[in-house]
Amino acid sequence: MKLPIYLYGQPVLREKTQDIPLDYPNLARLIEDMYETMYHAEGVGLAAPQVGLKDRIFVVDLTPLAKDDPSFDGFKKVFINAHIIEKDGEEKIVEEGCLSIPDVHEKVPRQNRIHIQYLDEQFNPHDEVYEGYKARVIQHEYEHLDGIMFVDHLSGIRKQMIRSKLNRIMNGQVDCSYKVKALKKK
Ligand code: NI
Repeated sequence: MKLPIYLYGQPVLREKTQDIPLDYPNLARLIEDMYETMYHAEGVGLAAPQVGLKDRIFVVDLTPLAKDDPSFDGFKKVFINAHIIEKDGEEKIVEEGCLSIPDVHEKVPRQNRIHIQYLDEQFNPHDEVYEGYKARVIQHEYEHLDGIMFVDHLSGIRKQMIRSKLNRIMNGQVDCSYKVKALKKK
């Protein structure tokens, strides 16, 4: 089932999520719905707060970008109760977008490598290191779990320049191919 995507301005996007317990009801269903929602919206990552949930889970699938890098093909993962242990490497600046902030694309500085621990959909623990664009997408989704959005990384002047766009998004004045939930109805 496709879920509506909560837009910038919705309070749930600013809240900290809670760890998912072993007996979380219908976890497989939630994961399936998150993938379906993400694919329909043509995103490569989606975090639970973006569908209105305060749960520590996000999904990614970089397969649609496999033409840029063959290692993205089949890079489809669920991250449950993830914790980034360490970030290092060079800082790189790359343009990002977010399904909760339609039509806003801005350059974001991030460190190039992360060490992350998480559980997969079977609650098997993983301890992994990612680099480059994979590390970037994972950091972007991971930050959603702590109420952080990519526009928070912008300089004051860039933020000022997109202020009116953000206000329109909050007011639901967006033209999206997917179902959304804005703070105020248009
Ligand atoms: Ni996002």
